[in-house]
Amino acid sequence: MYKANDDRYGHLPLRHAGNSGLVLPPVSLGLWRHYSAADPFADRRKVILAAFDHGMYHFDVADHYGTPYYGSSEQLLGQILASDLKPYRDEVVVSTKIGYEIHDGPFGNGTSRKSILQGIDGSLQRLQTDYVDVLYAHRFDDETPLAETVRALDDVVREGKALYIGISNFETAQAQAAIKLFKQLGTPLVLNQMSYNMFNRSVETTGLLDTLDKAGVGLIAYGPLSEGLLSDRYLHGIPADFEIHRTNTGTLAQGRDVVVAKLNALNAIAAKRGQTLSQMALAWLLRKPVVTSVIIGTTSVQHLEDNLKATDNLQFADDELAEIDAILKK
Ligand SMILES: NC(=O)c1ccc[n+]([C@@H]2O[C@H](COP(=O)([O-])OP(=O)(O)OC[C@H]3O[C@@H](n4cnc5c(N)ncnc54)[C@H](OP(=O)(O)O)[C@@H]3O)[C@@H](O)[C@H]2O)c1
Repeated sequence: MYKANDDRYGHLPLRHAGNSGLVLPPVSLGLWRHYSAADPFADRRKVILAAFDHGMYHFDVADHYGTPYYGSSEQLLGQILASDLKPYRDEVVVSTKIGYEIHDGPFGNGTSRKSILQGIDGSLQRLQTDYVDVLYAHRFDDETPLAETVRALDDVVREGKALYIGISNFETAQAQAAIKLFKQLGTPLVLNQMSYNMFNRSVETTGLLDTLDKAGVGLIAYGPLSEGLLSDRYLHGIPADFEIHRTNTGTLAQGRDVVVAKLNALNAIAAKRGQTLSQMALAWLLRKPVVTSVIIGTTSVQHLEDNLKATDNLQFADDELAEIDAILKK
């Protein structure tokens, strides 16, 4: 039987999601890729429990995640929530999302009232829990009035099926509109989950970071390692079959050789800081207080432990930041 490490708290600098009381570890574990029915359960269980033992108590899924069928990432996490982590449920932060395809037909997609209210029940069943800590609208649905989506999410909170609400992939104007509506209802909107890494800084350039900061909503960064590019794995080249998320396609637009040169230049700065490239890439995001947490994807306990050490040094000197900017802008 699993027993959690007694020394799991006190090592990571915990952070509030915006102005809320929801406190998250600086590094969270996402179960998008490689955590589903197609993957070896025992290996994945090890990584999830190692995360919890290190004080990384936040796990991020979505109803859409899973291979070969949607929902199977939630099922995998649900199996662990119902067994190993059952005695610790009050300590765990589970987030899930509704908005991308989960089943056929118009209500298996998007964020209509019907999609959300039946969607949450499906997620809770797969996760084997009575509530999620954070429920996200996974995307802005331009076929549903925003007020309808907001009202449905508010109802989920009032029914006790979610404690907090998040939005994901909402651009600045969409986030502003949502924040206003949630505020009117008194709904605890605490996070916007966005793609953000050294190579993809659109949340900075579009003004989204400032908007969230002013509104007291946290940004939680997904794909913080640009799906693994920002690690020592690709310093000698990026394979042709490297899979990149739609939000990161711009990264490879200059050609793989240019990216590899940038990775090596960044790696040299990381070495001077006494960090690996991954650690520096995560620290660079976490240096901003508005970034509540970074959600990494990993199937390796060693990578997980390596990445957590990012929090040992979140300070950057001005000249380091300038040097990094110069490399990224090349
Ligand atoms: N809201 C949304 O629309 C959305 C979209 C995409 C993702 N997400 C969330 O964000 C999570 C993370 O996304 P992501 O998987 O793109 O994150 P990521 O952490 O940027 O990339 C994960 C990749 O990095 C590799 N990696 C991690 N640490 C490493 C290290 N120290 N050295 C070498 N390689 C390393 C992993 O390989 P190994 O397995 O070998 O470690 C994996 O291939 C997802 O699981 C999901 O929860 C949300």
